[in-house]
Formats: sequence, structure tokens, C-alpha cells
Amino acid sequence: MKSTPRYFSNLGSRVYIDSYPSDVFNISEIHPSMTFWELCGGVGNDLWYLLDKGIVFPKNLYFVEKDPEHFCKAYGRLSKFFSDPNDHMILGDVNRVKGSPNSSDIVYMNNSLHAFSNIEQFEGLMATVVLLLKPGGSFVGRALSSDVDKKILEQIRGKAGRSFHVETADKLISGKFRGASEGALGAIWKKYGGSNVTVITERDPNKPTANLYFRCIK
Ligand SMILES: C[S@@+](CC[C@H](N)C(=O)[O-])C[C@H]1O[C@@H](n2cnc3c(N)ncnc32)[C@H](O)[C@@H]1O
Repeated sequence: MKSTPRYFSNLGSRVYIDSYPSDVFNISEIHPSMTFWELCGGVGNDLWYLLDKGIVFPKNLYFVEKDPEHFCKAYGRLSKFFSDPNDHMILGDVNRVKGSPNSSDIVYMNNSLHAFSNIEQFEGLMATVVLLLKPGGSFVGRALSSDVDKKILEQIRGKAGRSFHVETADKLISGKFRGASEGALGAIWKKYGGSNVTVITERDPNKPTANLYFRCIK
């Protein structure tokens, strides 16, 4: 499934990984020797930032994106950092990723969990991530909370400039997008062999949807 139309035009060149709540994740935790995967990396904003600032090093870095258009944009920006980009930038579905088991310190996935509305795909993702991570490694990300504020949704429905939020909220309610919650995330993570899950939800009083930041430890 593609992202909501207009996601990338709203995103511009914004980077997310540097603005996570520090109780969930702080970029100062990343060390150059760590193996870092970004799943569903879109047009590569976050990885470009991390590489440009020298926070991550190309040797232990992997990027996965399945949409050819998004991948090509990311490739255009990121390939210069790698001696052989094809070893590090993977065009394809995260559920087909073949990384070495128990090899990764951090698997990062920003604003993409909603695309795994199909339960087999979602379980496949969790199984893939648990397999990739070293014991003690972290799956870190931002997701859409399953908790939609229906009062705000009806207040903004039909209002100019708010259609992106209305569309996203409607998709969460209808199940076209998977919403995340601490309970559901924790249950499935543990089912595949993970341990602790930390979640922080941030709600904007003007939006019907909320951001849920998570860290799942293997
Ligand atoms: C909303 S965008 C977020 C992109 C990026 N993580 C960011 O924060 O800017 C979701 C991305 O996930 C990609 N995607 C969705 N399902 C995927 C899958 N199964 N495998 C790989 N990429 C996927 C989409 O093509 C899209 O680029």
C-alpha cells in the first residue's frame, strides 16, 4: 500500500529521527560501529541526515523501500555515500529482506506501520525485525495511534486544508490503515520473541490522529 497522497509534499525535506521523545530514542545512542537498518525509508530524508552528519557510517547501514519512485529519489540522494550502493539500498518489500539473523543493533521505521493493515504482512514484519536484531537490539519508530479523536474529526471534516488529516483518520477507522497501540504492539512483539515495549503517544489538540512513538527491545 502507498502512503496517503500528499505525504511526501507535506514532508518536504523534514527529518524525523532527531525529534523523537528522548524516553523512546535519542540519536546520541547511535554509534558508528552499530548496524542500522531503515525499513520503508521513503525518499531517504532521515538516512541522508544521519549520513551527512556522520552519525551513521555507510559500512553497517541498510535502507529498504518498495515503491520504485520513492526508492529512485532516495537512491539519487544516498548512493554517493556507499562504495557499492546496491549492497546497502534494497528496492523491495521488507518482508522479503534477507539480512543476517541477530546482526542488527537498531531497526528504524518512521511512519510506515499503518501500511501493514493486512495481518499476515504485519506479523511477517515483526518476525523479520526480531530475526534481524541482536538480543538487546531495538526496533524504533513512529506510528499512527489507533486512538482517533472522532469529535475533532467531525469538526474538521470538509474544512479547507484539513483533508489530509481527515483522510488519514478515516483510513484508521475503516482498517485500511493499521493503527498502533501499546497493547497490540506488545502482544505481537512478544509473540515473535521480543521483550520490552516502550510507547509514548503525542496528540496535537487540533488533529484527530495522534503519533505513537515506540521502542521494542529484542
Ligand atoms: C508514509 S511513507 C514514510 C517514509 C519515511 N519512513 C518517512 O518517514 O519519510 C511510508 C513508506 O513505506 C513504504 N512501504 C510501505 N509498505 C512497505 C513494504 N512492505 N516494504 C517496503 N516499503 C514499504 C511506502 O512505499 C512509503 O514510501
